[in-house]
Amino acid sequence: MTFAKLRRDFLAFFEKRGHKIVPSSSLMPTDPSVLFTSAGMQQFKPYYLGEKSPYGLNVATCQKCFRTSDIEEVGDESHLTFLEMLGNFSFGGYFKKEAIKLAFELVNSTFQIPKSKMTITVFGGDKEVPEDKESAEIWKKLGIPEEKIKKCGREDNFWGPTGEEGPCGPTTEIHINGIEVWNLVFNEFYQNKNKKLTPLEQKGVDTGMGLERLAMVAQNKPSVFETDLFEPFIRELPETNIKARRIIADHIRGSVFLISEGILPSNVEQGYILRRILRRTIRYGKLLNLVKQFLIPLAQRVIEIYKDIYPELKSKEADILTVIQNEEEKFEKTLEIGIKQFGKVALRGAISGKDAFHLFDTYGFPLELTQELAKEKGIKVDTEGFKAAFEKHREISRAGVEKKFGGVGKGATIEAAKLHTATHLLHAALREVLGEHVQQMGSDITSQRLRFDFSHPVKMTQEQVKKVEDLVNQKIREDLEVKKEETDYQTAVKSGALAFFKDKYPGKVTVYSIRGFSKEICAGPHAKKTGELSHFRIIKEESSGSGVRRIRAILK
Ligand code: ALA
Repeated sequence: MTFAKLRRDFLAFFEKRGHKIVPSSSLMPTDPSVLFTSAGMQQFKPYYLGEKSPYGLNVATCQKCFRTSDIEEVGDESHLTFLEMLGNFSFGGYFKKEAIKLAFELVNSTFQIPKSKMTITVFGGDKEVPEDKESAEIWKKLGIPEEKIKKCGREDNFWGPTGEEGPCGPTTEIHINGIEVWNLVFNEFYQNKNKKLTPLEQKGVDTGMGLERLAMVAQNKPSVFETDLFEPFIRELPETNIKARRIIADHIRGSVFLISEGILPSNVEQGYILRRILRRTIRYGKLLNLVKQFLIPLAQRVIEIYKDIYPELKSKEADILTVIQNEEEKFEKTLEIGIKQFGKVALRGAISGKDAFHLFDTYGFPLELTQELAKEKGIKVDTEGFKAAFEKHREISRAGVEKKFGGVGKGATIEAAKLHTATHLLHAALREVLGEHVQQMGSDITSQRLRFDFSHPVKMTQEQVKKVEDLVNQKIREDLEVKKEETDYQTAVKSGALAFFKDKYPGKVTVYSIRGFSKEICAGPHAKKTGELSHFRIIKEESSGSGVRRIRAILK
């Protein structure tokens, strides 16, 4: 049974049984306390807490998920960072009996997996939450022998909440051939920020079954990597190191999906995770002696596999490949220099926290990469020392920024509009002076100053800084109109508008253009005319990670 059929059959099964099929939500969650969507229930969190669901009481999804918690496990037969999670959910509609029966029927009758291959786990109870005898009884009635129903503790059979607080509860899991395939969560509690549980007024069901694992058992494969979700591209990789091969396959898939959501490699948050998995892939590529730029054909295969279900992968293919290629090129250089540097410090017999941080800060080596290299040499890395150095560095730079720019004052909106316009002028000027490779990597505006991160491999010379500054000031003096137009994304990009890829562009977009000089998709606000900006001054040009420069500038 192909993965496409498994996905389709799952959703059809629940649709037939009164569930509304809801599209996958973004991998970027609305909840700021989590980096990624890691479970199907996240988009439904409020409905477990009593808010009325616009989809009715029972829904089913195939949800894109990304789990950083499993990164270390990737390389075995079933763990992944990116996965598609099939799930059915009920917000006060049905509970244990119905949920277990539905799961059993689907696995046993539709997917034809015999009872003999199944083992069940249920929550065994602890001081706070009683044993889930009801679920065990239901399984028995369905014909699962008692000795195949195992009681487990909090660690294994209690799920949630995602983020800092939310619904959670005991679980029952279906294992097939020893692989955990389906997790059924019975949301009975609310856990607050202090980890205190209180019973929920309305009981809910939240289930999750990884499509990759389902494919593995349904297709009788020894690992998820032999299923038709991976086979078409993993076969391109040599079999000399199975772990490296699997890590590359998992990470390239994850990277393609993260980039398709507008995430760019950076040194913070989601961008940092993306950078880390991309660089880890490159590093493992080295272990397999892969040629440079090996990621591109792999990414193309991934897009082929998923393009029917996620058409945005195909429509953003050029952007996705560009981001991967840029990162690969950037990291290749860093990797060479960094490996030499690592070799030097490794001679001391151990890697101190300071050295590890230096490798991170100057050569873009994630701690993990240093750890892997150290492991190969059989030496230790002072992880705690690294963390301490990292924190110290962060505090110093934070204090520096606050001292320089002060807080947000009156007239902030007007000033911000001007700084937005200045940012566009700066972006265009940088491209003119340094070249078209300059891409916006990040931007931050306070009422006092702008900060602009962009791709450029080396420090700018003083002449270049001056040229950029002069060019922006010339455009200010010309007092040009900042024209605002609404159009759709495709038309905007075709007309040459720059799009900062991090933003999402649904439906209509706003394009701001400054005659003959700058054209960008942007939400604004902007000045009406460039003359309002008076005078532009760059106060600092510095590194913001490997291959990324940062400019801070003010208007006076
Ligand atoms: N939310 C549950 C999980 O992710 C089903 O395993």
